[in-house]
Amino acid sequence: MPLLRLDRLLASQGEGSRKEVHALLRGGRIQVDGKIATAADQKVDPAQQRITVGGRALHWRAHLYLMMNKPVGVISASRDPKARTVLDLLPPELRLPGLFPAGRLDKDTEGFLLITDDGVFAHDILAPRRHVEKVYLATLDKPADDTDAAAFAAGLVLEDGLRCLPARLWLGEGTEAYAAVREGKFHQVRRMFAACGKQVLRLRRTQIGGLILDPALAPGEARELSEAEVELIKLHKESTRDFNNL
Ligand code: URA
Repeated sequence: MPLLRLDRLLASQGEGSRKEVHALLRGGRIQVDGKIATAADQKVDPAQQRITVGGRALHWRAHLYLMMNKPVGVISASRDPKARTVLDLLPPELRLPGLFPAGRLDKDTEGFLLITDDGVFAHDILAPRRHVEKVYLATLDKPADDTDAAAFAAGLVLEDGLRCLPARLWLGEGTEAYAAVREGKFHQVRRMFAACGKQVLRLRRTQIGGLILDPALAPGEARELSEAEVELIKLHKESTRDFNNL
């Protein structure tokens, strides 16, 4: 891998702003392969070299993957001149450069939002032909039924004539229903239910690929995903290749 500037690397891993990292360097708190580092522009290979901050080993990650339980009323964008964005909700230690929401949830949709700085991964899980399912729990104005499930499976046509890929619908308690879709057209799930004559009163994304929203995350909270959890998103992609035969 290409060598990285030490100060830039440490800032990208959440060890503080560049200014704070420079103070750590001046204080002799950073070591590279057992030697105290003082030069901010020292070039390092974090995959090969042992870097410590105040005696603690830096666990280097090429990319960061966060699971957020998005609350209603916040927009899924990196920045907005007026409105509060999902990135504004991140605590300072997770608010690292280059992060963006991988796929949008509407302002009034809640639940699992993936935030990352890995553009390739984001593209991979969002592209419909990659078959990564996103599961939504919808509360409707009236109960869905088997006819709706058949219409979802056949590929619904929305009110503007757009045809959706086949999707799965299964019935929950009362007026709740789960929809699993693998594309992200504008207001897609709401419009799919509207095409079945049902209004969505509340919409929550509960799962991306094989990874379920952590119930311990309160609305607005986020946490880093482990490597195994990131793999779960991708693994599920493989297992749903035969989507049309499900
Ligand atoms: N479908 C919708 O209608 N809204 C969302 O936010 C996501 C999927």
